[in-house]
Amino acid sequence: MDLLWLIFLAGLAVLPPVGEIHKQMILAALAAFQLLETRLLAAAPGRGAAWAVLIKIVLATLLIGHTGQIAINSSYYPIFYIPVVTAAMLFGPWGTLGWTALASGAYCSYLWPALEHYQLVPEALDELALRIFFFFLLALIINRFVMETRRQRDLLLRAQAETKRAERLAALGQLSAGLAHEIRNPLAVIKGSAEMLATASVSSGSEARELAGYISSEVNRVNMLVTRFLDFARPLKLQQETVDLATLLDRALADAEERWPGTGIQVERAYARLPKMTLDATMIERVFANLATNAFEAMAQPEAVAAAAGGAVRATPGVLHVSIAAAAAQDAGRPGAVIQFRDSGPGVPGELREQIFNPFFTTKPTGVGLGLAIVSKIIDQHGGNVRLRDDAGDDSGATFEVFLPYVHHPDRG
Ligand SMILES: Nc1ncnc2c1ncn2[C@@H]1O[C@H](COP(=O)(O)OP(=O)(O)OP(=O)(O)O)[C@@H](O)[C@H]1O
Ligand SMILES: [Mg+2]
Repeated sequence: MDLLWLIFLAGLAVLPPVGEIHKQMILAALAAFQLLETRLLAAAPGRGAAWAVLIKIVLATLLIGHTGQIAINSSYYPIFYIPVVTAAMLFGPWGTLGWTALASGAYCSYLWPALEHYQLVPEALDELALRIFFFFLLALIINRFVMETRRQRDLLLRAQAETKRAERLAALGQLSAGLAHEIRNPLAVIKGSAEMLATASVSSGSEARELAGYISSEVNRVNMLVTRFLDFARPLKLQQETVDLATLLDRALADAEERWPGTGIQVERAYARLPKMTLDATMIERVFANLATNAFEAMAQPEAVAAAAGGAVRATPGVLHVSIAAAAAQDAGRPGAVIQFRDSGPGVPGELREQIFNPFFTTKPTGVGLGLAIVSKIIDQHGGNVRLRDDAGDDSGATFEVFLPYVHHPDRG
């Protein structure tokens, strides 16, 4: 690519005016800059792009000044395509427009010296306008193409990450289901023995009975954990029915609200009216319940902190925004519903973003860490996806987003 670039610039160098030394120096500078550009962009990701475009605008402007009797008439004016295209590739639509306007302004600045000696005829003005319009047209076409490519790549990366997560969960599920089974059998034996011990030790004193009681209750706890985990690890069989998402969501939220009385947490709903969906209502309600529970737990925390500080820190009651909307076609690629849970809690630290979906990952003292793993599994099974939104600039709270497609063929995964 660099070589081609050099060949074309060399082509420009041997075209008239060949003897103009400034022109040749500017072309050499453009060539050198192009070779260095990648390094500049890597070294300063944010500002590097602005510098790259600016330097190219300056070089293009200088080149125009040295390649025409009347600079504004220079046949080299398409050299401005270089900064314009660079901006279109490195910036968003507004940035591209801004930089193109700047490049056009730099080009038009040669009007002043020209107007000192010549008059501006309408045809010349039309020609100038045409050239500038083409700058913008090219910029917008290229920018649109680049943005679209970038969006496709992001979608692909996201899909890949989700597939990887599903595979990881499946592997973990299989592995631990085996383990859980193995644990259950000895547990049953221990429990049985503890019960016999309790009966046998009726005569031999209360201490032994108490100890036998401990064994029994701890075994129960482990057993419950194993059962919950087996529930998670077992392949799901969906019981599909046609239901209204809003009803499921409201039921899950009412449950959560009931379990956290007096926290002052507000739930704000924004439901779009969508057609009913075919899905496993119990499972999906569980998904909503798990997400709501997490949000409530996250928002209840500041209050605990405030209480620990003797009320010195006044906790602001949390707000949970829950929304249902039709999935934008360009986002999901297929029709469906998007359900969002946006809380005002502390959010999820960047380094934990992927881990939180792993089974047994928890940061809570009494958490098991299965909530999101179950959510992920159920949603995968419905052909949808769930993700923690990465809302740049929004520094508080976590936003979980669930996508559920209208049409899903479970047999095709
Ligand atoms: N809304 C949220 N805000 C902040 N952190 C969250 C939120 N939801 C989940 N997390 C983080 O993700 C971790 C995993 O969540 P998950 O629901 O899987 O497990 P858990 O809530 O810890 O335990 P369990 O749901 O099994 O009782 C949590 O421990 C917490 O650190
Ligand atoms: Mg949870």
